[in-house]
Formats: sequence, C-alpha cells, structure tokens
Amino acid sequence: MTYQDGFETLAIHAGQEPDPVTGAVVPPIYQVSTYKQDGVGGLRGGYEYSRSANPTRTALEQCLAALEGAPQALAFASGMAAEDCLLRTVCSPGDRVLVPDDAYGGTYRLFARVFAGWGLTHDVVPISHVAAVREQLAVRKTTVVWAETPTNPLLGIADIRALAEAAHEAGALLVVDNTFASPYLQQPLALGADVVVHSTTKYLGGHSDVVGGALVVADPELAERLAFTQNATGGVAGPFDSWLTLRGVKTLAARMDRHCRNAMRVAQMLAEHPAVSEVLYPGLPSHPGHKTAQEQMRAFGGIVSFRLLAGEEAAVRACGRTRLFTLGESLGGVESLIEHPARMTHASVTGSPLEVPSDLIRLSVGIEDCDDLLDDLRQALTDG
Ligand SMILES: Cc1ncc(COP(=O)(O)O)c(C=O)c1O
Repeated sequence: MTYQDGFETLAIHAGQEPDPVTGAVVPPIYQVSTYKQDGVGGLRGGYEYSRSANPTRTALEQCLAALEGAPQALAFASGMAAEDCLLRTVCSPGDRVLVPDDAYGGTYRLFARVFAGWGLTHDVVPISHVAAVREQLAVRKTTVVWAETPTNPLLGIADIRALAEAAHEAGALLVVDNTFASPYLQQPLALGADVVVHSTTKYLGGHSDVVGGALVVADPELAERLAFTQNATGGVAGPFDSWLTLRGVKTLAARMDRHCRNAMRVAQMLAEHPAVSEVLYPGLPSHPGHKTAQEQMRAFGGIVSFRLLAGEEAAVRACGRTRLFTLGESLGGVESLIEHPARMTHASVTGSPLEVPSDLIRLSVGIEDCDDLLDDLRQALTDG
C-alpha cells in the first residue's frame, strides 16, 4: 500500500495486509493483554503489553494515518480521551489556548472545567474570522489554536490554511477537530494543521456501535511524545473497538457520498419550509462559509442544523415527533438522528460564550431513502 493509492483503496487496505500466519483477509481481533517474549526483551513485532500496543489497534492507527496523509495516528478509547492526551502533551500549566466560539460542548467543558483547574487558560475566539484570531494571538503568547470545521452544532466554517499561517506566525500549534468532515471530505494536515482530532465514534465508525477517538500528526517527534503520554495515562482503544472502527472505515467514502447527497436535499427542503427561520448548512450558497468550504472540502457533510420560527418549545416538540429520525445524541451513523442541542449535547455550555440558540435543531442525516426522510421531517414540522 502506498500513499499514491486512492482514498477508497487506502480505507480498505492500509494497515490491513492479510494475516501472515493464517491469511485472514481482515485483521483479527487480538483480544489479548500480554505477549510471549523470546527471552527477556525479545519482543515479536514490538508487542509486549496491550496498553502500549496491540496489533488490531496498530491496524486501525495505520489506516487512519494513511487516510489523513500522515506518518502516524494514535487510537483512543474516545474522542475526549484523545483530546485529553493531546492537551497534556503539548500544553503546560500557565499556557494559554484559543478555543472556538462554537464547538462540541464536551470539548469546551474539558477546557473550562478540567484543564482550567490544571492551570491552562483559554480565550474564546470566533474561529471563522481569521482577523479576530490574529488579534487574539497578538495579545498574549498562545500554545494552541483549537478549531472545529464544520463546527458542532452551528456548522461554522474555519479557513484551515489561513488559521495555520496565523497560528504558526505566533508560534502556536493548530489543532483541527475533523470529526464532522471525516478525512474523506477534508484533510487538515495537507492545509497546514499540526494535529487532527477525531471522535471516531461518528463517521469513521459509522454505525453507532462503538465509541473511540484518534489523533493524527505530521511530526514524528510530536507523535512520539503523544505515544508516551498515551501509554503513561492509558486511554487506549481496545481491540474489539479498534476492529469495529476499522470495519466502519472501509465504507467511509461510500457512506459519506450518500450522507452528503441526502443532507443537501434536506437542507434545500428546510430552506423553503415556512416553519423554519434559518438553515445552517455549508452546502447552501447563502452560508457565509460556503466558498471556503468549497475550497477545502470535497462535499459539505451530513449534518444540518436549523432554527424554528416558533421557538424553543416548538423545536422540542418537533424533535419528539419524527418517525425515522431517532431522537438521540451523537451523529455520523447510517441511521438519521435528531436532537435539541441546547438541552442535549450542548447543555454543558449553557451560560458560557458557546451557548447555542434554544430554537435550534440538529440533524445527522443518514443514508436512508431521502424521500422518506423528507416526508418524516415535513410531518414533524407540522405543529398541530
Ligand atoms: C466534534 C466532536 N469532537 C469530539 C467529540 C468527543 O468524542 P467522543 O464522544 O468520542 O468522546 C464529539 C462528540 O460528540 C464531537 O462531536
């Protein structure tokens, strides 16, 4: 397998050579904690204990690295475990980070409620406005600029190349949470980012059956430091979770094409709907980040958020009335989900600069027959 192979080829083959002993076409689940040594220190393939390394996890890590065009990736028990490992590794108490004004609530909670106590300070910046980020970088020395694009749940778009330039001029690292786009739609390292974060729970896993996370890095020295922290603190992906994620990754491209197509039709329908005051989807030409998204993404993703004219209670009622869109947290699975961010995924940012509008609904548009999805939303928005 080489990096010249196409994305779909890498997704199916990178890190997944047939098993040398049996010829098994799919990497086995190495459900094992320890490995026989051929004499003290005589490791077979570098494996000694599964917190440090496990062959099923290695297969997933090699595949994720290939998909992001990087030499190395690390797989974790969750997206939050990956973020925690990254911050412990690249930041020290007393450092300052810039965090986006729209982001997954749990990410903000990690900065505001966990790392603040450790001595890491954070300032919130409008991540779609590079001039505002530059202004903040000029105020004080900064270790990390943290970006999501598209953002969760408001679907803001950050210009990765411009942010990388601004961060690097100020001596900071640019971290991009690529969960919403997945490596199929967007490859932040190629645009200058230093670290990519994934909640592999979402599109990479793709079937709502496993929680996981990943860090992907271009710099081998940083990868080594991250691997040290990962082993020292232990938030690793288990073998079965790694295997499930790897199985999901094989169909990522095919699923994403369909997610994007369905989401575009849903966004267009909602934009015309009389009950809807605003549709947030970077694929719509009216979206302020549309042009940047077109430049740095292959397509616009499967998440659509929208606001209802009739306000919060109407939004909560609509979330409870769908037949096919399942009311639930998370996103990125083959099945469509609906949620009310202010009371669900983003309840932890209430009262913070990241508070989300109370009339907002977020959809994770699945890969079902799109006509069925459109019918389901239309009936749910008929407030009777
Ligand atoms: C954009 C984003 N980043 C990170 C996370 C955290 O990942 P996990 O739930 O796998 O810990 C989430 C979870 O929803 C997310 O949406």
